[in-house]
This record gives sequence, structure tokens and C-alpha cells, in this order.
Amino acid sequence: MRTLIDEEVRALCKPEEIPDGDAVGFPPAPGGFTGLMAVRQGDKVIVYLNSCPHIGTPLDWMPNRFMSNDKQFIICATHGAEFAVSNGECLKGPCKGDYLETIAHEMRDGIICVPANAGL
Ligand code: FES
Repeated sequence: MRTLIDEEVRALCKPEEIPDGDAVGFPPAPGGFTGLMAVRQGDKVIVYLNSCPHIGTPLDWMPNRFMSNDKQFIICATHGAEFAVSNGECLKGPCKGDYLETIAHEMRDGIICVPANAGL
């Protein structure tokens, strides 16, 4: 079977472990400093590097608190930038026009998997 990710993968979680319309964070890969976050909208999951394009700080102000109150945007805790859920574009804030870094992922046995070196 051909897969999107050829190299070694890291299993994150099942999609249903992410509340619909919300996001979950994941720690850095071993040896790394930057974690990941996965946001779910219905059947769609997008994985981003948990790093703001402004100055590289983690986005969440508390574990798994990535979203605006209305769940319409991903928010950076440091300076309040707002990012589109669908593509990570900063729509408002000091890094307007920049993008969160998208991490390639694929489903394996019902689990969201990313390259093992994602975020390194
Ligand atoms: S570090 Fe995210 S908006 Fe400044």
C-alpha cells in the first residue's frame, strides 16, 4: 500500500479524541522543543506546528486551549493573533498574512499519524 508519509511515523490520537470544533496539543518529538496541535472540524483534521509565526512561542495559554471562545479561530496566547482554522493564515495580529506551519498527516488504523521528525 502506498502511503503519503514514507518515513517513520508518530501516532498522535484518534480523531474522535479531539472534540469537534476544538484542538488538542501534543508534546515535542523526542529531542525537540516544538510541539504540535491538531484541530478537528467534523471529519476533517489539520495538524499544525504549535509555534506562532510571530516569535515562535507556543500558541496555547493552557494545555489544549488553542481556540477563540466561539471556536472560529486558533488564537496565539502571547499577543492574541487570530488564525484561520482551515489553512493557518493569520487574519489579525502582528503576524497578519503569515501562516502556521502545516504538518502532513495520514490515517493509519484509525489513528492520526505524522512524520516522526515533525517539529524537529
Ligand atoms: S507570538 Fe503569537 S502573536 Fe506574538
